[in-house]
Amino acid sequence: MRIGWAITGAGHLLSESVEILEKLANNHEITVFLSNAGEEVLKMYGLYERVAKITGGYYRELAIDRNQRFSYPISGRFSLGKYDLLIVSPTTSNTVAKIVNGISDSIVTNVVAQSGKGRVKTLIVPVDIESGDVETVLPSKLELEKCTGCDVCEASKSCSQNAIISKTEIDLLKCIGCEECRDACPFGAISAGKLIDIHMRDIDIENTHKLILMEGITVLNNPNEIKDYVI
Ligand SMILES: Cc1cc2nc3c(=O)[nH]c(=O)nc-3n(C[C@H](O)[C@H](O)[C@H](O)COP(=O)(O)O)c2cc1C
Repeated sequence: MRIGWAITGAGHLLSESVEILEKLANNHEITVFLSNAGEEVLKMYGLYERVAKITGGYYRELAIDRNQRFSYPISGRFSLGKYDLLIVSPTTSNTVAKIVNGISDSIVTNVVAQSGKGRVKTLIVPVDIESGDVETVLPSKLELEKCTGCDVCEASKSCSQNAIISKTEIDLLKCIGCEECRDACPFGAISAGKLIDIHMRDIDIENTHKLILMEGITVLNNPNEIKDYVI
């Protein structure tokens, strides 16, 4: 199959999505579309290189929002029916809100809109599905209560990106999720992959319910369900 796979800036379900994407790329032609936040968040979780690695060649591009202009010409491929399937996983509450309101102002919302116009089946895995609290994973984080404020910070010294400059927090926009800092700190003051509970807002759950009712879109609970739709 020829597939478009769009990634937005959600940390939740991100590594699970990348795992399925890698598997499908062995047997299918996949173009990857990244929102600007998708690109940043993939880097923070150390997953960007894995996604870049599976791309290369016509219809196997890595299409990043910041490299497009305002009209997103690449999304026209979907209205022309060049793809068999569009997958958006993971999908932030922001992108879901825009889709249900018919807004197309990013590479991801544009490929979804054009898929609707070209009747390309679209699978969406939103991160906000059910009310209540959900456990999610954080990128690298400086745990201040464990930091002893060493004169020479080993974590900072080990960082190839100079992402720990202040000894108060990691600059996630510089971080590439390599986790060298976690291994370097003798006091265990850097965590990576810490789990926290986040509350699902009613507005985001309502938008997911609206998404379920949209023509041409199938909403999935988990990236693992994607395989059932790929022949
Ligand atoms: C580390 C990190 C993790 C994030 N995880 C989520 C998430 O799980 N769900 C979500 O809706 N937004 C999450 N965000 C916020 C989105 O990236 C942000 O709302 C962004 O503007 C979404 O843009 P997009 O929908 O165009 O990708 C996260 C941000 C950061 C920095």
